[in-house]
Amino acid sequence: MGVDLTTTYLGLKLRNPLIVAACPLTRESQRIMELEQAGAAAAVMYSLFAEQVESDALSQIGHGTTETGGVSVAPLPQDYVVGVDDYLRNIELAKQSVSIPIIASLNGSDVGDWINFASLMEQAGADALELNIYFVPTDPDITGSQVEEQYYQIVAAVRDQIKIPLTVKLGPYFSSLPNLAKRLAEIGVDGLVLFNRFLQPDIDVDTLDVAPRLTLSSSGALRLPLRWIAILREQVSMSLAASSGAHTTRDVAKLILAGADVVSMASVLLENGPHHLTTLLEELAAWMEAREFASIEDFRGIVMRRPGADPTAFERANYIKTIISYDKK
Ligand SMILES: Cc1cc2nc3c(=O)[nH]c(=O)nc-3n(C[C@H](O)[C@H](O)[C@H](O)COP(=O)(O)O)c2cc1C
Repeated sequence: MGVDLTTTYLGLKLRNPLIVAACPLTRESQRIMELEQAGAAAAVMYSLFAEQVESDALSQIGHGTTETGGVSVAPLPQDYVVGVDDYLRNIELAKQSVSIPIIASLNGSDVGDWINFASLMEQAGADALELNIYFVPTDPDITGSQVEEQYYQIVAAVRDQIKIPLTVKLGPYFSSLPNLAKRLAEIGVDGLVLFNRFLQPDIDVDTLDVAPRLTLSSSGALRLPLRWIAILREQVSMSLAASSGAHTTRDVAKLILAGADVVSMASVLLENGPHHLTTLLEELAAWMEAREFASIEDFRGIVMRRPGADPTAFERANYIKTIISYDKK
C-alpha cells in the first residue's frame, strides 16, 4: 500500500510534512537543492535580522551604528553584516533553483523600518513569510500585556505590507498562549511556528565573560511544542508548524498525532546532513503503513484531549500523572 504524505501548510500544498527550519543550511541555493532532492517539502531561509537591515541602511549613508526607526542597533559580527540586497538575491536564486516553496524569514523585536523589508521579500518571490519575534523584556516597568501589544503591533505592520501567507515564530513564554494565538489569528496571521528556541548565552569561567554558545537540540526539547500544539489544535484554525526537538521518525509522528501540519527541523539536519530527510520519510511511510494510516490527515491530531473534558483540569491531571509516573518506574 502506498501512503499519501501530502499536507497543507499556510495554504501551500506540500508533498510531505517535513520542512527545513531557518538555519545555515538554507543560506545557499546549492544546499537548498540538496535538501529538496533529499525530500524537504519546503525551506525556511535563514533570518534577515532587523539589525542587519538597520546596519545596511546606516552603512549606505556612511554612519556607524546608532539608533534608527525605533530599533536599537547592536553591532553585528563583521561576517554577518551581509547586504540586505544579498538576501533578496538569495530568495530569487532559491526560487530559480528549486520547485519547493521558499519561506523568507524576518527577525526583529520592535516596530521599526526593518518591517518594510517584508514587501521586498514578497517581490523577490518568497512563497510565504516567517516572522520571528525575539524579544526578551528586561525592563521591570514593562508589563506582560505591553509585551504582547508590541507583538500585535509588529505583526499588524508586517501583515499590512504583504499578501503572501504570514506565519509567526514564537517563544514559549507567555502567560496565555491560547489568547495570544487567537489575537494573532484576528490580525490575519496564517500560521504559528512553535517554538523559537531561546538561545541562552553561557558564561565562560576562564575569561569571566558572556559566551554565546549555540548548542543543537535533542529530542528532549520536543515535549514543549508537543503539548502546545495539542492544546492549540482545537482552538485555532491557523496552520501549526512544530519546531524544536524533532530528530527521529517517532518525534515526527508524535508531533503530527498532536496536530502539527508540518515539522520544521534544523539541529538534526545540521548534524546528519540533508539525506536524513530521506530516511525519516521512508520510516514515516513504513510507520503509517504498519498502522494502516493511508494519509497524514488520517492521524493528524488524533491524540488530543477527550472530547468534552475540561481542558484546564485535563492539563492539571496530566501534570500530576506525569509526576506520579516516576515513582512507578
Ligand atoms: C545554527 C542555527 C541557526 C539558526 N538560525 C535561525 C535563524 O536565522 N532564524 C530563525 O528563526 N531560527 C534560527 N534557528 C532556529 C531553528 O530554525 C529552529 O527553530 C530551532 O533550532 C529548533 O529546531 P531544532 O530542534 O530542529 O533545531 C537556528 C538554529 C540553529 C541550530
